[in-house]
Amino acid sequence: MMEAVQIRHRHLLDLEDWSASEIESLWRTTDAMVEVMQRKVKKVPALQGLTIVTLFFENSTRTRLSFERAAKAQSAEVLNFAAGGSSLSKGESLKDTLKAIDAMQADLYVVRHGVAGTPHQLSRWTDAAIVNAGDGRRAHPTQALLDGYTFRQGFRGFDGFRGKRLVIVGDVMHSRVARSNIGLWTKLGAEVVLCGPRTLLPTELGHWPGVQRCFRLEEAVEGAHAVMALRMQRERMQSGLFPSLSEYQARYQLTAKVMEHAHPDALVMHPGPMNRDVEIEGVLADSPRSVIEQQVANGVPVRMAVLYSLLVGRAR
Ligand code: CP
Repeated sequence: MMEAVQIRHRHLLDLEDWSASEIESLWRTTDAMVEVMQRKVKKVPALQGLTIVTLFFENSTRTRLSFERAAKAQSAEVLNFAAGGSSLSKGESLKDTLKAIDAMQADLYVVRHGVAGTPHQLSRWTDAAIVNAGDGRRAHPTQALLDGYTFRQGFRGFDGFRGKRLVIVGDVMHSRVARSNIGLWTKLGAEVVLCGPRTLLPTELGHWPGVQRCFRLEEAVEGAHAVMALRMQRERMQSGLFPSLSEYQARYQLTAKVMEHAHPDALVMHPGPMNRDVEIEGVLADSPRSVIEQQVANGVPVRMAVLYSLLVGRAR
């Protein structure tokens, strides 16, 4: 059994410099937050007097709302900034925008931006803590934390990540969710298999320790403990990366039939948003194997734990 470890980090920009013990410690805090969310009154005073600002320069449903819910459940004040409708359209720079919000005494920013590295840049311009809510195709650390937590909670007889196999199917090339999950699952001792058309599986990812590429879906899924389908990110894609959507569906759609090749207790995952009957069969997404709704539900306690750990529980 691991000893309780205090998180040392000022920010959550990515998980590369978080140790396995810190991740496990954050999940233990998440267990306590799950208990809070099961109470009749889902509110604790842990972040009273603190102000959290969500800074979203890209669309979001799950991440933005679950951070807001996570902050409010701990009694923080929440300010929501959306790029559309802001003074950025009048020519104000990102730095000046941040300085303006800083003057309102923000304690923590939750940042989503289409350009990789933006949360890191913002962390150099403010004394407040920064949480990366997705930057370009680089990282989405809280998504990986909630995916790993959902597996830990939902896989029958879970006895650790070592010896487990996660298969990620689809548009890995454009996926920050894939990159963050590869980092997290391999750090904890699991194997990751990436599956999809050759054009959407970057060669260099296949060279990461604990990661392999496979171009045939049934072969990739053989014996897997969890299979995660990814959406085609056509908003980040140049044309010509796969022949046609119908051909993609025929070869790579995750279906109940394909899941027959997996471990009998294997979980079906999807980070959302999902295009039903494109990358995943609708009936499989609604089946008992699917933990897709649980992933969304776990987004709140995991993000509560992140906010708490950075603002209150951090080792100084
Ligand atoms: N998984 C995820 O990041 O979803 P949203 O884009 O809805 O936040």
